[in-house]
Amino acid sequence: MERPAWAPQGIDISVPSVSRMYDFYLGGSHNFEVDREAARKAMEFLPGLPKIMQANRAFMRRAVRHAVDIGIDQFLDIGSGIPTFGNVHEVAQAADPGAKVAYVDHDPVAVAHSQAVLEGNDRAVIAAADLRRPEEILANPEITGLLDLNRPVALLLVAVLHFVEDADDPRGAVAELRESLAPGSLIVLTHASYEGIPLPKEEAAGTVGVYQNIRNPLIMRSREEIGQFFEGYEMVEPGLVSMPEWRPDTPQAPQQEDPYAFSGFAGVGRKA
Ligand SMILES: C[S@@+](CC[C@H](N)C(=O)[O-])C[C@H]1O[C@@H](n2cnc3c(N)ncnc32)[C@H](O)[C@@H]1O
Repeated sequence: MERPAWAPQGIDISVPSVSRMYDFYLGGSHNFEVDREAARKAMEFLPGLPKIMQANRAFMRRAVRHAVDIGIDQFLDIGSGIPTFGNVHEVAQAADPGAKVAYVDHDPVAVAHSQAVLEGNDRAVIAAADLRRPEEILANPEITGLLDLNRPVALLLVAVLHFVEDADDPRGAVAELRESLAPGSLIVLTHASYEGIPLPKEEAAGTVGVYQNIRNPLIMRSREEIGQFFEGYEMVEPGLVSMPEWRPDTPQAPQQEDPYAFSGFAGVGRKA
């Protein structure tokens, strides 16, 4: 089997990974045939998956710029993925060269490629850690060495919580993170849902089956359930909406989007 030089030793390249499948949807090159095969299967049920991912990345960039606009200069991006075009540190540091960004992912390819991309950037780090163990993230020396958690932080949980099953207590993990952040902090979040997908639920469910088969379940949640991740935070206008509807760059932009871009939800909450 192909094993390019960038593939970290020890990873199992016979099993698809969600971060490498995501890289494939976005047109990246850090994926293997197993990932492409699983991603193509998922696209048989939801042909618009790449459009959903593009809308997700575009929302993320608008939310990062918003955070910089309101004076936030520290970012904690959990489930940051394999770096691709327009990463958080690029967007944040273009708007504020002093902005600091700590990335977190549990996928070894995402960690290795992030390390390569961040080399020489003394205001961005990547930590290998798991969202399901927030206490380890909050105590991680790479993260605490860069970010001052006593000052406001934008916490990004973008397209990651739908990979955490209820049995692993995503609400508890997010609550711990929420409580530990300083007043003025933001939570920037997107989450998959059957709501907004331009297909009957029964058809879209085929995609969920593909992720189930690769033992990396994709958990669709309702708008109400997703809203609960912001508990105690004030929703920044316009609230929890579809990705193109969150502070579009121009009023016409949402109308120009592909129908698939309206799948799932995006929102930003602020700690008073
Ligand atoms: C769909 S990608 C999203 C990447 C990026 N946040 C974005 O929206 O463009 C999801 C990422 O979350 C990571 N991930 C999934 N579960 C995780 C967990 N429990 N802890 C840390 N990272 C996780 C995966 O490895 C993958 O890189």
